Amino acid sequence: MTDSPSTTNVRAMVVNSFGGPDTLTAQEVRLKAPARGEVLVRLAVAGVNFVDTYMRRGLRTMPLPFTPGLEGAGVVEAVGPGVSNVRPGDRVAYAQQLGAYAEATLVPADSLIPLPDDMSFEDGAAFPLQGMTAHYLIHEYRKPREGDVVLIHAAAGGVGLLLVQWARHLGARVIGTVSTEEKAEAVRKAGAHDVILYTEQDFAEETLRLTDGHGADLIIDGVGASTFQGNLQAAALRGQIVIFGAASGPADPISPDVLMERSLSLSGGDLWHFMPTSDDMLSRANAVIEGIENGWLKPHISRVLPLAEAAEAHRLLGDRHTIGKVLLSTGN
Ligand SMILES: NC(=O)c1ccc[n+]([C@@H]2O[C@H](COP(=O)([O-])OP(=O)(O)OC[C@H]3O[C@@H](n4cnc5c(N)ncnc54)[C@H](OP(=O)(O)O)[C@@H]3O)[C@@H](O)[C@H]2O)c1
Repeated sequence: MTDSPSTTNVRAMVVNSFGGPDTLTAQEVRLKAPARGEVLVRLAVAGVNFVDTYMRRGLRTMPLPFTPGLEGAGVVEAVGPGVSNVRPGDRVAYAQQLGAYAEATLVPADSLIPLPDDMSFEDGAAFPLQGMTAHYLIHEYRKPREGDVVLIHAAAGGVGLLLVQWARHLGARVIGTVSTEEKAEAVRKAGAHDVILYTEQDFAEETLRLTDGHGADLIIDGVGASTFQGNLQAAALRGQIVIFGAASGPADPISPDVLMERSLSLSGGDLWHFMPTSDDMLSRANAVIEGIENGWLKPHISRVLPLAEAAEAHRLLGDRHTIGKVLLSTGN
């Protein structure tokens, strides 16, 4: 069923050419009525993710122009033919569709996550992408056991703070790396046992020192170039290293022999590969919601900027000035 007009004009932040944060331009964009299986969501809040900055810079293949933003929360305004899982007026979030830096957007119905009544739109936009990422990183590799040493890079970041809380919840000994003392404080508050300022100290040596030479059983790395080599020294015998991002640029290649010498495992991860079906996505999302509702998992929202200030959000993120999550509010 659809009861929407054939098109709607909405205010959006658009990338017309690849480049710095100021390429994000406020524009009116025209949305068609939702097609079969689609839903028009009136967005209250969009989540900002580091990957948005890769897209803006042209480091990911993107058709121009485009509206960035892979997640948001808001209210269903209209549904296309064949949609039965949501109705106009439902409160929803999602993380699988480009176009969230806007007052409204079209989303496949099977990407929608129903929001609990008592969850704010801010929390709703803060958890999907980074929460489901933390979920697969914790559960799909070496799932931390009581006493395992888990080393988390950029631990004060959006994904980082969620990983710290999750690993701690499972009983791991958590070590985080960060660039500033203010970030270190946030990571300690999130439950890390130790924090290393990797801009001042050699994190591999420090990890070995803190663990009496044992090293880290699991290393979760979204930083890449500046951390990758150190991971090989910081890992425990038979340790597992998971690379899921490259905030500092792509890591240099290594010989596989390096892994053999200390029986290390090296894996990569991309969220989209860990939720091939709507049921997979919903089970990860609901595990995150459960953690939030039970009180042991808290998305840390550090900044909520107006949608028009998307460029400032990108500047803060690219300049390493953010702790936890940055959101854009549409005023809806
Ligand atoms: N593969 C996946 O499934 C997946 C999903 C989500 C995110 N990611 C990746 O995970 C990483 C974290 O994402 P996020 O959205 O949560 O971002 P974020 O961690 O909030 O922000 C990135 C952080 O990386 C650190 N960093 C280190 N070197 C940097 C540099 N040269 N420039 C900028 N930042 C640098 C900074 O923390 P310090 O200042 O403390 O160093 C910065 O705050 C990103 O690489 C992202 O692409 C991957």
